[in-house]
Amino acid sequence: MKITYLGHASLSIEAHGKTILVDPYITENELAKHIAINTLEADYILITHAHEDHIVDVEAIAKRTGAILISNFEIISYFEKKGLKGHPMNIGGSWKFDFGKIHMVNALHSSSFPDGSYGGNPCGFVLETKHHKIYIAGDTALTYDMRLIPKMIGYIDLAVLPIGDNFTMGVKSALKASDFLECKKVLGYHYDTFDYIKIDKIKAINKFAKKRKELNLLPIGDSLKI
Ligand code: NI
Ligand code: MN
Repeated sequence: MKITYLGHASLSIEAHGKTILVDPYITENELAKHIAINTLEADYILITHAHEDHIVDVEAIAKRTGAILISNFEIISYFEKKGLKGHPMNIGGSWKFDFGKIHMVNALHSSSFPDGSYGGNPCGFVLETKHHKIYIAGDTALTYDMRLIPKMIGYIDLAVLPIGDNFTMGVKSALKASDFLECKKVLGYHYDTFDYIKIDKIKAINKFAKKRKELNLLPIGDSLKI
């Protein structure tokens, strides 16, 4: 699996010949000016919640690529009215797609669209392929529910966790989350985009290293493989 960081909470994941985008927020991200959304491929787009900084480029990318959206029932209904295709799920559910399985898991946050309409409950996802499992936390606080993930789904190879604090977990909570997830390899996201979530990256990496854990902070556009 190849995971490319597209800035903020946006990812592009290549798994089993398919490209899965996550929470595309690129055109409004000052730090991601070098990423051109009309070059991004997408077979599927995962959406964790309805906040603007997770959905801004969904419509443009889905219209061009014909990608199928995967999100909660309310978010899928919202985008279906705009003519997009989607697969609705809800927390606790799993579904087998052609690239692997998606488990929709709990996130502790909020979820309303920029126009005020109801965006259902926020969520995280576990993407499970034949050989790997990655947990994409979405915007969330640290929750005790995270302990259920390795117990119910199995070993998590990579946890993608918000680390920017203020709107979500910060570094200290993300480190505790990695304990709950029984996971040593973390990709940090949801940091530095806005003043409220600027972090000291070296300090964050060292904090994880002290506990013999790996915090990956990728330059926007860079990838890691698992
Ligand atoms: Ni949010
Ligand atoms: Mn957010």
